[in-house]
Amino acid sequence: MTSPRSNPATVLRGPMVYLVDDPFLTDPASAFVHEPDGVVICRDGLIEAAGPYDALRDGIPADAAIHHYPDGLICPGFIDTHVHYVQTGIIGAFGRQLLDWLNEYTFVAEQAFADPAYAATVAGIFCDELLRNGTTSALVFAAVYPQSVDALFEEAGRRNMRLIAGKVMMDRNAPAALLDTAQSAYDDSLALLERWHGRDRLLYAITPRFAATSTPAQLEAAGALWRAHPDAFVHTHISENMGEIDWVRRLFPERAGYLDIYDHYGLVGRRTMLAHGVHLTEAEFGCCHERAAAIAHCPTSNLFLGSGLFRIDAAKDPARPVHVGLGSDIGAGTSFSLLATAGEAYKVAQLNGFALDAVRALFLATLGGARALGLDDRIGTIRAGHEADLVVLDPRATPLLAFRTERARSIEEILFVLMTLGDDRAVRATYVAGRIAHARDGA
Ligand code: GUN
Ligand code: ZN
Repeated sequence: MTSPRSNPATVLRGPMVYLVDDPFLTDPASAFVHEPDGVVICRDGLIEAAGPYDALRDGIPADAAIHHYPDGLICPGFIDTHVHYVQTGIIGAFGRQLLDWLNEYTFVAEQAFADPAYAATVAGIFCDELLRNGTTSALVFAAVYPQSVDALFEEAGRRNMRLIAGKVMMDRNAPAALLDTAQSAYDDSLALLERWHGRDRLLYAITPRFAATSTPAQLEAAGALWRAHPDAFVHTHISENMGEIDWVRRLFPERAGYLDIYDHYGLVGRRTMLAHGVHLTEAEFGCCHERAAAIAHCPTSNLFLGSGLFRIDAAKDPARPVHVGLGSDIGAGTSFSLLATAGEAYKVAQLNGFALDAVRALFLATLGGARALGLDDRIGTIRAGHEADLVVLDPRATPLLAFRTERARSIEEILFVLMTLGDDRAVRATYVAGRIAHARDGA
């Protein structure tokens, strides 16, 4: 007999894949788990038990709702480590390179988020799109306006998502309507942090846009805020594009390099997420490793803006590995799908002479992202005690996927084909904290 509890359990059964360790640093065969007939028992938002169905069948509570996906693939929910919700409306803007694209499209679009009603509408669309793509957690740039952050946290909180976000700080080199000051950015960020950090599953990120749009005084303020609240996150951009790097060097001639600017102001450490890092030097990778700072690899964005080819193999060099997650970087990125993003990461790596296999790519989209964010004690894998954020993939989602999957010789090949051909159509269901949050085919 099961003991009486507040909420009935939700049970998922089906083939299951997940990572328990970093396959860039350990034997992929021991880091990767494939359970051909697995079961996950979820209760009160957490995974109560997970493993082979045969081993756990007798422990399945009598009151449980059982969702059986014999043709699916149960994975940890995907983690998008860099995305701009306020750029959802400019995906695919013909922007040429980064700085033109920022001026012509981005800085125009973000001004609309001064309006809380507009922000709420886009925030809802954004959260739904994450879930439709199997993304259960994200680290998100809002706009400069505090109300744009409130709108996103309201929508993410309503869906009970583990989501991290922050108000953009920028006090120079952007239209006047988008500028704050060092002091107002500090005050507004602090107020938001106190309102949202740790409420429900929401967390706050101190978010200076990039070195070019913050004065030294503002970076100083950002560092002071982090020192006062060291359990918050820091989220910014770095070394994405050659023109940007030249400009930043001219703005901070006294600093040794791009990363040294952030480091000087105390912004590089655990829970720092640096988006892109396409052109980081070996010394800068070494500094990221020492500080345990992370990089968000955003391949669709880097290809779209012609920014360059991120060296995943160099970043993950076992001699001084750097934490790396995958980022969609919407709206410079072109897909919300981390399956599609992983597929593009493979192609970018190929152009650097490195073949990124499906197991390593799945790691980047799940446990790797969780480790990069310092949240791997809660999300990123399928383990008792972890939060029950799960996605059910469909390797036969389209006629072509079905045709191709029939010919796959291994689970790794099925996963690789999903990354090559898959997108939101391949997401059959998404579970957030043990509750169904998206069902592709309806209830
Ligand atoms: N660097 C500074 N701001 C941005 C942005 O909004 N998108 C990208 N891709 N890079 C940036
Ligand atoms: Zn970005």
